[in-house]
Amino acid sequence: MTAFPFDISATDGAARTGVLKTSRGDIRTPAFMPVGTAGTVKALTVDQVRQTGADIILGNTYHLMLRPTAERVARLGGLHRFMRWDGPILTDSGGFQVMSLSGIRKMSEEAVTFQSHIDGSRHVLSPERSIEIQADLLGSDIVMQLDECVAWPAEEARAADGMRLSARWGARSKAAFGTRETQALFGIQQGSTFETLRRESSERLTETGYDGYAIGGLAVGEGHEAMCEVLDYAPGLLPADRPRYLMGVGKPIDLVEAVWRGVDMFDCVLPTRSGRHGQAWTWEGSINLKNARFAEDESPLDPASDCPASRDYSRAYLHHLVKAEEILGQVLLSWHNIAFFQALMAAMRAAIAEGRLEAFRRDFRARHLKPD
Ligand code: GUN
Repeated sequence: MTAFPFDISATDGAARTGVLKTSRGDIRTPAFMPVGTAGTVKALTVDQVRQTGADIILGNTYHLMLRPTAERVARLGGLHRFMRWDGPILTDSGGFQVMSLSGIRKMSEEAVTFQSHIDGSRHVLSPERSIEIQADLLGSDIVMQLDECVAWPAEEARAADGMRLSARWGARSKAAFGTRETQALFGIQQGSTFETLRRESSERLTETGYDGYAIGGLAVGEGHEAMCEVLDYAPGLLPADRPRYLMGVGKPIDLVEAVWRGVDMFDCVLPTRSGRHGQAWTWEGSINLKNARFAEDESPLDPASDCPASRDYSRAYLHHLVKAEEILGQVLLSWHNIAFFQALMAAMRAAIAEGRLEAFRRDFRARHLKPD
């Protein structure tokens, strides 16, 4: 059925490590996908992104359909050529960004209608149109079904409605996608924090049948503990032989806890967004370079890293760049953070392969499970 073979080479408890083979290259899992919302991983060149060890990046239907438009990207040869990234790209379907970014919006069985956050213009996004934009116009390698991510907290009846609409939109997405040799389609599990709904969602998704399965509707305000409670059962409801992708997550501690529970793929704006705001993630936790304690600190963020941003610049210099609001500060901290997230995923892949993820997690929790 599937376009992309997923070879799991080792497991450790519920955690797995392996390779998802795409026509544009291998994705080593567990994988972290830097977010390239509008055709750019903000502040970085694709060569810098590649140098961090990222195998795949994420793009957004919502942003690209509004600007520069999916048709224009298609005329310019597709998203890979447009942005000069020749590795795999996963695109999100747009529903979630409509919810979080657009102005007035209306949901119907047919589609979501919304106003652009850029110029107020009116747009319609149906499951079929989302597939057309992602698969045919942008040329995405991994296409996400259109879904509805219900806001948290949600009444059970409201969460059930959103989950069932997502399941029907998933089936329509699959029909529109058809079968393709070099592109994959992922379904999205919904159901908020209700186990019965996540179970029903998974059953409906597996019945339709996808190349991979995402867990949606988390990291929407419920907090680390509540998210972990859902992750105690949600990944296990999805087919074990296909990749599982936790959408929009997260902090390093969230990644460790989710990998431990059987998740294979992640994306989040956190490393780039927090980098633009002076925050750096390290093996010891996160620090803000604005803090005066770094003003004369000559140590780099990570002398052992092979990322120039982590290894070659002092905290004192980064402190100065952030305080002076220099663009280079945003570049170096985004670059460092993406490199750190990639190093974390590589460390987890090695720990799973060597059967020592439990010890890795215990040590990581001791350093990171404290207030930022
Ligand atoms: N990104 C973060 N959460 C979600 C979700 O639930 N659905 C989609 N499509 N994207 C997301």
